[in-house]
Amino acid sequence: MKTLGIETSCDETAIAVYDSTEGIIGESIFSQIDMHAEYGGVVPELASRDHCNKIIQVFRAATHGIDINTIDQIAYTAGPGLLGALLIGESFAKGLSYSLGIPLIPVNHLEGHLVSPGMEFSEIKPPYICLLVSGGHTMIVDVKDIGNYEILGQSVDDAVGEAFDKVGKLLDLPYPGGPHIERIALEGNSSAYDFPRPMIHSNNLNLSFSGLKTAVLYKVKEIRDLDNKAKSDVAASFQRAVIEVLTKKIKKTIESSNRKNVIIAGGVAANKNLRSSMKELEQALGIKVYYPDLKYCGDNAAMIAYLGSMRTSLNKTISNSSVRARWPLTELS
Ligand code: KG4
Ligand code: ZN
Repeated sequence: MKTLGIETSCDETAIAVYDSTEGIIGESIFSQIDMHAEYGGVVPELASRDHCNKIIQVFRAATHGIDINTIDQIAYTAGPGLLGALLIGESFAKGLSYSLGIPLIPVNHLEGHLVSPGMEFSEIKPPYICLLVSGGHTMIVDVKDIGNYEILGQSVDDAVGEAFDKVGKLLDLPYPGGPHIERIALEGNSSAYDFPRPMIHSNNLNLSFSGLKTAVLYKVKEIRDLDNKAKSDVAASFQRAVIEVLTKKIKKTIESSNRKNVIIAGGVAANKNLRSSMKELEQALGIKVYYPDLKYCGDNAAMIAYLGSMRTSLNKTISNSSVRARWPLTELS
């Protein structure tokens, strides 16, 4: 069975085709990041317009060499995300479903991240713990089964990626700051500044990053000569604080849950320091830590197609819109 997945929730226009026997057989992604970088963040109106401009060429590239008449169903991200951007994906999905006469399945973007490692690692089956760290979300989820998720902890304020991006701005780095912080931190001393590790000792699994970002803001104001060396030191010290908190919380999660597999998903999962810090838990706790391939860490349509392939629908005519800007995991139907 072939499922075509469409992802337009934020600033990536992505389409992929998942075949239940062969895996991903076609995919294409266009990132709008360069366009938004100029504004220091994603501009929703521009995002919608650009999805509109690019979706046909992304569709053509993703389905190149695939007879589109052999596609059995279409899954698309219906939320959470930017409303206008989601509507472009939904409208395209509806048109395609209508013209091909095949069912349409609205899916949750966060759930896509949670299940995505299953498409690469066949040995990963629920239950497992997923640490989802992206620009919009930071949560520790117990994936008890596909469709059965319990949020064990989450950020009470900023998402981790958001904190990376805000600190990036303070250090005059291009948007999004995450990869640039990682890059300049390589030259820095991670013990140069003793930034707070918010909620590291709290007895729950929640997280907080806004106080840490504010501490960086005050430190940056205090440093008289914010040269490249000082920037690298700030970046390395900030990154270390974030990673220490995340690693400690995952350790706590494992100790209280008995789960043996941990998956790190979302854009921040690309961070190599985070990866090696989590890997160190493997031996200490007797667990296995998995990461999606770098191209599947951030937003992508492969995870949407894969999630859709686990669903079936007879619904070929969705007349109402299923799009939701807010769609918490707790409200999956
Ligand atoms: O999952 P994603 O592509 O988009 C959503 O937010 O849904 O995540 C993007 C976030 C951005 O905040 C970006 O700065 C962060 O992931 N990021 C990183 C790294 N690469 C991307 N943060 C830290 N280190 C990285 N190497
Ligand atoms: Zn995402």
